[in-house]
Amino acid sequence: MEHSKHIIRAVLLLVVIAVVFVLVTHFLIPETYGMHGSYRFANVQEFASLPASHGAPGACAECHEEEADALAGGKHASVSCEVCHAPLAEHLGIPAAPASPAGGEAAGATPAGEGEPAGDPGSGDVAGEDTPLMPINRSANLCGWCHEYLVSRPKTFPQVVLGAHVVEQGEELGKNGEIRDGLCWECHAEDVHDTD
Ligand code: HEC
Ligand code: HEC
Ligand code: HEC
Ligand code: HEC
Repeated sequence: MEHSKHIIRAVLLLVVIAVVFVLVTHFLIPETYGMHGSYRFANVQEFASLPASHGAPGACAECHEEEADALAGGKHASVSCEVCHAPLAEHLGIPAAPASPAGGEAAGATPAGEGEPAGDPGSGDVAGEDTPLMPINRSANLCGWCHEYLVSRPKTFPQVVLGAHVVEQGEELGKNGEIRDGLCWECHAEDVHDTD
């Protein structure tokens, strides 16, 4: 007996560790974990209950037919309005929507102003007068996301070194090499959605 004491101690220690393990995992593992796989099932509902921020394809066209037709007939037909502008929810003044990179925070973006009313895209109704307009990003950076020369882009994709391209086209850069807002649009509106 004298020599089995250490074994009993070891077994007791293992039992204590097992009990602590069961207790701790019981409190740490969320309730709906594992219901339908190795993830927390309640998470699905949490995300589904967030307000939608993006419109369906064609949501913008309901009110901006001219821009939509011009876009569809041009080189940017494959680019969604919301990529260059902002999620529809921002336009309709629904605050919870995460800001898009094209939104008000972006360099050179004009902040959304108060203006003409927009409305519910589903109903075609016009909402209250406080509905903010879309922020418009007129900076060269907007175009640069896709067209700034990068070694990693496919060679066949149209890309330019922004500053050098502007100078080549006979325009001047600012003191620190900056490109003035709206300059790309002055020559390329037709490639996007010129409605004039
Ligand atoms: C329910 C109608 C409606 C829908 C849907 C709608 N807009 Fe508008 N939008 C308006 C109205 C009204 C104005 C203000 C008058 C105008 O400039 O045509 C406006 C203005 C704008 C402006 C100009 C903002 C400014 O400062 O001049 C932009 C850009 C714009 N919308 C983009 C979009 C985009 C992109 C979508 C889709 C994500 C969209 N709109 C969906 C009604 C709508
Ligand atoms: C490739 C980027 C890009 C896409 C895609 C795009 N826009 Fe624009 N849009 C712009 C820029 C840049 C301006 C600002 C033009 C300027 O400087 O006046 C603008 C201006 C506007 C304006 C203000 C009025 C005007 O014509 O100047 C409206 C309204 C508008 N866009 C709606 C749309 C809608 C609707 C779509 C989708 C059908 C769309 N845009 C897709 C870049 C884009
Ligand atoms: C989200 C990506 C995206 C943004 C942002 C974007 N473009 Fe484009 N652009 C494209 C795609 C895609 C094409 C079509 C490429 C093709 O035909 O292979 C294109 C084509 C063009 C072309 C035609 C090139 C040719 O081969 O004739 C020009 C010019 C152009 N874009 C200018 C602009 C300007 C100016 C802006 C900013 C107002 C802009 N783009 C913003 C994706 C973008
Ligand atoms: C003064 C007019 C002018 C300005 C400003 C201008 N461009 Fe251009 N751009 C042109 C012309 C003309 C072409 C076609 C000739 C060529 O390929 O060099 C062109 C071609 C392009 C192409 C296609 C290149 C290719 O490989 O097919 C892209 C992309 C482009 N421009 C983007 C921009 C962007 C982004 C800006 C703003 C930083 C801008 N441009 C400013 C006139 C201009």
